[in-house]
Amino acid sequence: MAAAARVSAKASRRAEELRRTIAHHDHLYYVLDDPEVSDTVYDELLRELREIERAHPELVTPDSPTQRVGGKPLDKFARVEHAEAMLSLANARNEDELRAWAERVERRLERLDITGKEIVYVTEPKVDGLAISLTYERGVFTRGATRGDGRVGEDVTQNLRTIKAIPLRIDDAPERLEVRGEVYLPIADFARLNEQRAEAGEATFANPRNSAAGSIRQLDPELAASRPLQIWTYGIGAHRGFEPNSHSGTLEWLRERGFRVNPDVEVLQGVDEVAERCRWWEGRRDRLDFEIDGVVVKVDDRGLQRELGVAGREPRWAVAWKFPPSTATTRLNKIVWNVGRTGHLLPFAMLEPVHVSGVTVSTATLHNEEDLERKDVREGDEVIVLRAGDVIPQVVSPVIQKRKRGARRSRPPKECPLCGTPTVKPEDGVFTICPNRTGCPGQQFQHIKHFRGALEIEGLGEKNAQRFLQEGLITDAADIYALTAERVAELDGFGEISAENLIEEIEGSKRQPFSRVLYALGIPGVGFVNAESLAEHFGTMDDLLAAQPERIEEAEGIGPILAGQVYEELHEERARELIERLREAGLRMELDASERRVEGGPLEGRTLVLTGTLPNLSREAATKLIKRAGGKVVGSVSKKTDYVVAGDSPGSKLAKAEELGVDILDERALRKLVE
Ligand code: IVH
Repeated sequence: MAAAARVSAKASRRAEELRRTIAHHDHLYYVLDDPEVSDTVYDELLRELREIERAHPELVTPDSPTQRVGGKPLDKFARVEHAEAMLSLANARNEDELRAWAERVERRLERLDITGKEIVYVTEPKVDGLAISLTYERGVFTRGATRGDGRVGEDVTQNLRTIKAIPLRIDDAPERLEVRGEVYLPIADFARLNEQRAEAGEATFANPRNSAAGSIRQLDPELAASRPLQIWTYGIGAHRGFEPNSHSGTLEWLRERGFRVNPDVEVLQGVDEVAERCRWWEGRRDRLDFEIDGVVVKVDDRGLQRELGVAGREPRWAVAWKFPPSTATTRLNKIVWNVGRTGHLLPFAMLEPVHVSGVTVSTATLHNEEDLERKDVREGDEVIVLRAGDVIPQVVSPVIQKRKRGARRSRPPKECPLCGTPTVKPEDGVFTICPNRTGCPGQQFQHIKHFRGALEIEGLGEKNAQRFLQEGLITDAADIYALTAERVAELDGFGEISAENLIEEIEGSKRQPFSRVLYALGIPGVGFVNAESLAEHFGTMDDLLAAQPERIEEAEGIGPILAGQVYEELHEERARELIERLREAGLRMELDASERRVEGGPLEGRTLVLTGTLPNLSREAATKLIKRAGGKVVGSVSKKTDYVVAGDSPGSKLAKAEELGVDILDERALRKLVE
């Protein structure tokens, strides 16, 4: 007994140490963009912590980095009342309006008999994302909410937890604190997401803002976790136990506690400097990796802020200098078709060149056949073009009033524009495809591009991929592993060193986990999340390859249609061949020991449902305990459920279990069963 207690005390100390170390590395990587250790070292720390928590579920704390993912899908979001209202901002569209605002501030302060020095302002980027509020209680992140109507928002804690730049615990913290910020999806990730959605036949997001909002408002936290969301924090709401004097001081305070505060925030004297800074931001707008739609100007002194107060929903002490929108109207000269990874024909627009936020745009994406159909964009139309940072510009809509008579819809071509093969539109599909899956150079290129992205082979950029394909060095992803440094070095533009680096990187990709390999295969509908779920469910490639659609459907998040597709795709000769060649090359075809569900455990093959609050186990800890014993936890009770584990204030699941005659356990009974 004493020995066991000692082991556990040691484990507890080590777990705490690991939590701190991992939080430190998250901060370096996600907040300061300055990592200290390699991914392998980081993964190893996380693995060790998971291991300890698996063996001692009682050691799992809510602020453990392992708790960032793994929440259960919700039916709907709970309402959250903000302790302090989340305000909006008055706009200034130009310098005159900015000066007028500053004058109003000065006059009001004069009337209050506060005169003297020039006013100090803080300027910040106005990030175009989703406003959120993070609540910390005694330093622990307990709740995150959307702005909603400013007074009441939605509880999106699970989704916000997945953002690694949000500290789960802060040191030297006041008793209670709301931190305010803007969540966004970096522009490159937004572009990638839209590309994937277009290929999968899903509706695309109109702009990064919508993609961030859509990701945070996902009921399934796994989906949110699959989107690389980021955050800039820019203020505090309700707080108890400390009182900063200035806004800039607040930002510094937040920065010191690990929050991500934009480094270009500036403290300035007087309105001239402010106007200059606003123009500086406008010039940088297109070079940022996140969308901004203006600059927020705030009076720095919190005492003055209080004096100035709020008018309606808008504080008098702040204003948003708004940039003109990054859209323009131009003529669409022609609709051209390209071919995507899975053979879909994808339309894009050749435009009359037009300036959009400082850049000349002459082509824009129309995403996919269905999007084109829905937007009803036609050749010769005047169209609205949107540009978000570095993203490929997109055609938002036609200006219908200006349509010329006789303008016709564009249909996908009868022959593939890249290989000339007659195109087909499957009866049950929405997209026209080029059926030449292995021989079409367009598809080969997209396949390689997807594969290198999935396995993170940075050196195999688009230009190199094109080169290798054209030179006949490769025709598919498996060929990458047969490349040699000698052969690559013969190509123009490559030296011995760069060739060797590339080969080394390709070698390194063999260490990527099984789920990544599965994702890299590019099975339609199997994005990163579904790939992880399949990997976890089957454990090995062979098991997956042997599975009937009914079994594939048992994997989390895989519906019957997708299961059928996965089955068919994996039974294509070329997929089998590709997998075998990748296996021979040495890629991982099964889960790592540490990722595995334990076989032969006492709950092997059993399905359990959790409901209510257990006395000593968090939901996550209980789930781990069950998994470790070989069991599976699902969300709802059915005839297939073996046990329902019920704690305090159980929900309707308990009643359902009683109705169906399912065995009901309490925490003690569960622990006994597991032992
Ligand atoms: S301050 C009192 N600062 O703009 C202040 N807002 O129109 C209210 N936003 O809902 C917010 N960047 O979503 C502030 N640096 C920044 C901001 C910012 C973006 C958004 C936020 C807010 C909206 C107000």
